[in-house]
Amino acid sequence: MRLSDVPGLTQLTLAVALTASFLPTAGAQESIERRVNELLGEMTLEEKIGQLNLVSHGPPLRWEDISEGKAGALLNFNSAQDVARAQALARQTRLKIPPLFGLDVLHGFRTQFPLPLGEAAAFSPRISRLASEWAAREAAYVGVNWTFAPMADLSRDSRWGRIVEGFGEDPTLGAVLTAARVEGFRKGGLATAVKHFAGYGAPQGGRDYDTTYIPRAEMYDTYLPPFRAAVEAGTVSFMAAFNALNGEPSTANPWLMTDVLRTQWGFDGFVTSDWVGIGELINHGVAADGAEAARKAILAGVDMDMMGQLYIKHLPDEVRAGRVPESVIDESVRRVLRTKFRMGLFDRPDIDPSRVDSIFPSPETRQVAREVARETFVLLQNRDNVLPVPSGVRSIAVVGPLADAPHDQLGPHAARGHKEDSVSILEGIRRRAQTAGIAINHAPACDLFCRDTEGLPAALDAAKQSDFVIAVFGEPQELSGEAASRAHLELNGRQIEVLEELAKTGKPIALVIMGGRPQVLGPVADRIPSILMAWYPGTEAGPAVADVLFGDVSPSGKLPVTWPRATGQLPLYYNRLPSSRPTLPNNRFTLNYIDEAITPLYPFGWGLSYTQFAYSDATLAQRQIDEGQALEVSVKVKNTGTRAGQEVVQLYTRDPVASRSRPLRELKAFEKIALEPGETKQVTLRVPVESLGFHLDDGTYLVEAGTIQVFVGGSSLADPVGEAEILKTFRIPPMERRASASTSVAQ
Ligand code: BGC
Repeated sequence: MRLSDVPGLTQLTLAVALTASFLPTAGAQESIERRVNELLGEMTLEEKIGQLNLVSHGPPLRWEDISEGKAGALLNFNSAQDVARAQALARQTRLKIPPLFGLDVLHGFRTQFPLPLGEAAAFSPRISRLASEWAAREAAYVGVNWTFAPMADLSRDSRWGRIVEGFGEDPTLGAVLTAARVEGFRKGGLATAVKHFAGYGAPQGGRDYDTTYIPRAEMYDTYLPPFRAAVEAGTVSFMAAFNALNGEPSTANPWLMTDVLRTQWGFDGFVTSDWVGIGELINHGVAADGAEAARKAILAGVDMDMMGQLYIKHLPDEVRAGRVPESVIDESVRRVLRTKFRMGLFDRPDIDPSRVDSIFPSPETRQVAREVARETFVLLQNRDNVLPVPSGVRSIAVVGPLADAPHDQLGPHAARGHKEDSVSILEGIRRRAQTAGIAINHAPACDLFCRDTEGLPAALDAAKQSDFVIAVFGEPQELSGEAASRAHLELNGRQIEVLEELAKTGKPIALVIMGGRPQVLGPVADRIPSILMAWYPGTEAGPAVADVLFGDVSPSGKLPVTWPRATGQLPLYYNRLPSSRPTLPNNRFTLNYIDEAITPLYPFGWGLSYTQFAYSDATLAQRQIDEGQALEVSVKVKNTGTRAGQEVVQLYTRDPVASRSRPLRELKAFEKIALEPGETKQVTLRVPVESLGFHLDDGTYLVEAGTIQVFVGGSSLADPVGEAEILKTFRIPPMERRASASTSVAQ
């Protein structure tokens, strides 16, 4: 059955069409502002503050709060029955203002797509848009209208468990993919709350909820661009981060919530706190009690209180006592109402309570999930071309606890994902092997956390009796996501030991790693010739992994995050500043570790294919670039192998002499292209000169005259192409800076 044949989906299509543009035309905007002001004029103070209260399904919510107008926004209402009931209660209120229904729809609702970090490895805004759109369609079908996604937190530290929810370490990739996700969710019918504003991805020691220190210039250059891109892409809301940034908790941070977001970027939607984030201002030590916390948060620019109940409890008195001007409340309510009008909530029929999410996954959503997943796998190494599984193979041992892990493959934040819907990697391999008459010998070797290796002898026997070994190891879902920071990133439990034993069998082995971040592989990288990073692939993990292992599709993912050799190397990222003592191998007094190599195991942007690509004839369109012009690089890429494949052509720049130390390399543009064997394509990448500068602490963007070095290739180790000269120095004040999203990115 196709999705369009599902009963009720005509309404879905209609609802999506109504909401597809939350960015109204000037005329429509005027009429929205009129309606907002009329409504606001009719509201009591209590009704206004009710619109700023976001409450979850379950305690402390009383259903009567909805009919009493005390809950303008709801979360975790994930069935049509509950949504319809709440909508009916909201209609009993005096002003009948429809609620928002929010949920963490990150990478799927019922059908699960790859986790965002994996999805980022596709290096493809098309793929990100597609996955977000389909996730949104399913959630919107049962009445959810607002997602707490995408996460736009850049992270350079894989100890932080939530790195899995983002796009990794690069601001250009992050800006492009965050915008694509916002657009995809909107197209599928969900408004977005882009989170966590801001700096949450750089907690000290990689510890979730710990404090963050980031100089303002670095915020503007590195951490803020993905959020800014979300504004340009039309997000209606943001979520404040839990952390303190340079000593000021984000939830009470006027620089972030007002100066940057509203004044500099012109954002006119609303900001919600994170879960009880306002009450946590007391733990941060900037508020003595709930009243002070509520006051500080609203005055800073946080419009909505998620689960704290502090606005509803304290703001009426704060206003009456003159500590919070009513005009501040009015402005926050205006932002919320404006959003509800833009989303078309006032003009939509209530949800049909007979809808159920069990109509998903449909064959069509499964197909999309499979197509998305196989774009995200990164072939880290493939010595002796062990992969794809050679045609002569008659038997395969499938080993490792994550081969048959229908729950874990969905990854964290799986909304309404059911493990019963999953096709495991084992099952996917079985189905594919059957078509080729290959026998499968399955032996897990150890338990999920690989503490108990009683099954190892059986696994070694299976390996010895087979022509080929597929080992599926990595990080169970519980070790990744929120509140899952790790101090040891080695493959957990006894996995390394088990893999070494398997390697001793002398059989050709391919290791498939499942997990939410790079794992420290230790000796495994030497012992196992072929390693494929599969992240958490989602519902269709099995068919997608089999497509790639058997060579039906060549792997085309690239690392969105630098892969360390040791946990002690973190934070580790490619776009670092030069050192005063660049690394020299035999000189201890240069940038080095004395007990580990200084280089990563695999660099940012890295990923192999089953075919090879040759770059040639790289040329710069102009050697001199003036204000308003662009750096333009053309390069020919040829598939020199015998299989079809996709390559991500990456352009990096460096400003070697500036008034400030500039990164050794910065990704500025990329394009994913498909090439048949023997085929050549010319790729042209453009970078506006306005994207070749850097920020000052006050947000001014400075482009300096001088030389820019250019590199092009298939990873951050890209080859030099030449140099271009920026002819004059110019500054762009914070409020005039256009988003760097005009950088060329395709696919
Ligand atoms: C997380 C948010 C999430 C919220 C609602 C919090 O714990 O930090 O990212 O959106 O819960 O589920």
